[in-house]
Amino acid sequence: MATSYSFLVLVALLALVPWQAIASDPSPLQDFCVVDKKSPVFVNGFVCKNPKDVNADDFFKEANLDKPRVTNKVGSNVTLINVMQIAGLNTLGISLARIDYAPLGQNPPHTHPRATEILTVLEGTLYVGFVTSNPDNNFLSKVLNKGDVFVFPVGLIHFQFNPNPHKPAVAIAALSSQNPGAITIANAVFGSKPPISDDVLAKAFQVEKKTIDWLQAQFWENNHY
Ligand SMILES: *[C@@H]1O[C@H](CO)[C@@H](O)[C@H](O)[C@H]1NC(C)=O
Repeated sequence: MATSYSFLVLVALLALVPWQAIASDPSPLQDFCVVDKKSPVFVNGFVCKNPKDVNADDFFKEANLDKPRVTNKVGSNVTLINVMQIAGLNTLGISLARIDYAPLGQNPPHTHPRATEILTVLEGTLYVGFVTSNPDNNFLSKVLNKGDVFVFPVGLIHFQFNPNPHKPAVAIAALSSQNPGAITIANAVFGSKPPISDDVLAKAFQVEKKTIDWLQAQFWENNHY
């Protein structure tokens, strides 16, 4: 008797949980919803085009992901294949990236607001890590060799660094969103347009205002394409 009552209470409580709110991207309600690039309507994601007009090219891109990329000032280049590159990814909750690292290059501390990332090393070695949320801010890190896999949980600040001074590294990452988003911490904080008040940042980072002014004067190059 008590057991069936608890069960009913549990079912009633579960019915109240907003399931969509705990998934990264909403689950599809049809086979696919290829982006209708001509639609003027704004929805969460993109409007679907008529399934009769869909063909294999909507799920394809000649992305040359086997080819090395030129790296930027911090020594990396993220080539992201998301819904902007493949219209068929709309509503499917997944995307892919090739990341190139120069010798001693890094993909600087950043976060994906909408995706967990799983990464594998194809070439070279990577020192990777992420930091848990407040108040603990635990730093979990690892050195990855070719063939190793590591996971960066959704929303957490993470990075990858190639510790080898002579050889480049290459990784492939999958992300649990059609549009994971990326916020590079330094770029967002010191390179915002217009700049955040240096009074605010000096206090937040516990440094002198001139240090903030110097940081804000730097060129914060994007490494995500
Ligand atoms: C990153 O690679 C893309 C090609 O995939 C290239 O267009 C871009 O210029 C590269 N970025 C840098 C900073 O060289």
